[in-house]
Amino acid sequence: MLKVGLIGVGGISVAHIPCWEKFEDTELVALCDVRLEQMKNYSDKRCYTDFDTMLENETLDILDICLPTYLHPEYAIKAMKKGINVVCEKPISLKREDVKKIYAVAEKNNVKFMVAQVLRFWDEYEFVKELIDNKKYGKLLSGSMQRLNIFPDWSFEDWMADEEKSGFVPFDLHIHDLDFLVYALGKPTEIKSFRSKGQKQDVIEVLYNFGGAYINCEATWYKGKIPFNANFRFQFEEAAVIYYAGKLNVYDQNGKIETDDRKQQKNEDTIGIPKSNGYANELRYFTDCVKNDTFPDKVKPEELEEVISILHSL
Ligand SMILES: NC(=O)c1ccc[n+]([C@@H]2O[C@H](COP(=O)([O-])OP(=O)(O)OC[C@H]3O[C@@H](n4cnc5c(N)ncnc54)[C@H](O)[C@@H]3O)[C@@H](O)[C@H]2O)c1
Repeated sequence: MLKVGLIGVGGISVAHIPCWEKFEDTELVALCDVRLEQMKNYSDKRCYTDFDTMLENETLDILDICLPTYLHPEYAIKAMKKGINVVCEKPISLKREDVKKIYAVAEKNNVKFMVAQVLRFWDEYEFVKELIDNKKYGKLLSGSMQRLNIFPDWSFEDWMADEEKSGFVPFDLHIHDLDFLVYALGKPTEIKSFRSKGQKQDVIEVLYNFGGAYINCEATWYKGKIPFNANFRFQFEEAAVIYYAGKLNVYDQNGKIETDDRKQQKNEDTIGIPKSNGYANELRYFTDCVKNDTFPDKVKPEELEEVISILHSL
């Protein structure tokens, strides 16, 4: 049984905690948050308000970092120097130079490190990556991705409202889609972007050229309280793949709906592809890397560096 600790019991932690509880080979033994009240629903865990005390008292195999972005490098490095494997929420950092620093500490201390770039583990996005790789419907010609939300006004001490700490929409939201594109298609050859930034509002529109495949991305923090939504549309030579309102469908020239073969084999929904749990998939993958002593190379440091550089250029 691998012993897991989680630090930062805020917004995203509620997506991680049930995954650790569900796995049969991990035990979430300890939580840490500077605000004790954040942990009031977890009376079965050992709860700490100070990270050093947690590290002194616990023998952890894995630390899951769900802290505000500006704390990721410092806490990841501290834990890895104690010999603890670290999985960390995105982004790894706002600074490109931190990527090499963090991976060097992991290597020196012989531990695993991975940034939880969840779309790489999200069924519907993995499905598109497979189509790009296997060319089942021909070459990818174009695409459109949206990630639309309100300003996250629930964050600890309003850290999201400080661009130095959060990086605003590029590092909060657009990073997901860009990271997926760099993972699936490599480095873009051309980038054109437009941005409208105001008080707790930020909107970016970016057009990428990936060697002839044009992908348009939109990411927003609106003041108007819209519901969160993440969608995409990809045009291959022989089919269009559309993910909208949580449903993924494939249309060929006859208008037929096709589905992901993997899912059909498992007798799952044959009309739309089932919603995934990308968070469970990413934490499962990382846990397996720790158990099997393999480098978690599904998230590569050089791709993380590329993404940070692009985000700063928008
Ligand atoms: N992958 C995703 O889909 C996704 C979604 C949301 C957020 N995130 C990422 O997760 C991270 C956290 O975001 P959030 O929305 O949960 O933020 P949040 O502000 O809601 O939660 C952060 C928590 O950390 C605690 N904290 C702050 N400083 C601390 C310290 N020094 N020691 C211990 N605890 C401390 C706060 O009390 C708070 O409970 C961010 O980096 C964000 O980019 C990822």
